[in-house]
Amino acid sequence: MNTATTIEELRNERNQIKGIVGLVPTMGYLHPGHISLVEKARSECDYVIVSIFVNPTQFAPSEDLSSYPRDLQQDFKYLEEAGTDLVWTPTDQIMYPHGYQTWITVDQLTQPLEGQFRPEHFRGVTTIVAKLFNVVQPQCAYFGQKDAQQAAVIQRMIIDLDFPINMVVCPIIREADNLAMSSRNAYLSDAQRKAATILSKSLFAAHRLYEEGERNATVLKESISQIVQSEPLANLQYVSCADPLSLQEVDKITSGALLSMAVYIGKTRLIDNILLK
Ligand code: PAF
Repeated sequence: MNTATTIEELRNERNQIKGIVGLVPTMGYLHPGHISLVEKARSECDYVIVSIFVNPTQFAPSEDLSSYPRDLQQDFKYLEEAGTDLVWTPTDQIMYPHGYQTWITVDQLTQPLEGQFRPEHFRGVTTIVAKLFNVVQPQCAYFGQKDAQQAAVIQRMIIDLDFPINMVVCPIIREADNLAMSSRNAYLSDAQRKAATILSKSLFAAHRLYEEGERNATVLKESISQIVQSEPLANLQYVSCADPLSLQEVDKITSGALLSMAVYIGKTRLIDNILLK
């Protein structure tokens, strides 16, 4: 497995690659959810590049940038086992050198859901992903459905900025008790870890109502809200039932919907979602 730190090192490697390049952008502290993206890229591409960069511009000052979990040695081991060809680990200074002042913003799609509570977040995400795309120039890029709004926003950016990239969105990977895998699960105490299953429990219960024929979005959201409130350690920040493409709230589900939520378990903010087809 090759490694690169600087943009020059990455470009030197990139210039020698023939065939389809797949990029898996990550912030490290990898878990099986990330590895599923690498495996998908491995199965579809000739050369798989994984970037590891904890992007400071997508964290608000009040958020967990300084405590975000990191373990590069373990990440390298997992990536090697998954057949990664190259790991790129740029530094803050490389990605945002002194005087940096250029930003990519996607308008409407970044306003609802996560955008209501993390107003600067997507500007940071789209800026860094555009920079990763520019340097790596992959033909394919792999993201997780767990960050459903991020996937929609990046897809919009790819279209609007004419990146010649096929974006692949891979399913959420869950623990045995259905907690969606996330690097932030590492923050949870044992009791909080148990309580965190309330996210998927409530989403799956709403999904069952949907399968039984319920199409009223308020009824589904109310069901989620009640189930989350039954867990004393959980604090629901939002629950949404939105059109999966526009991310605008719907009243009645006519052609599928994205049910999504953010919940605080103690100080840890967790998100989860399910697509109603
Ligand atoms: O999903 C993530 O891990 C990050 O938001 C990403 C896409 C790597 C950009 O920093």
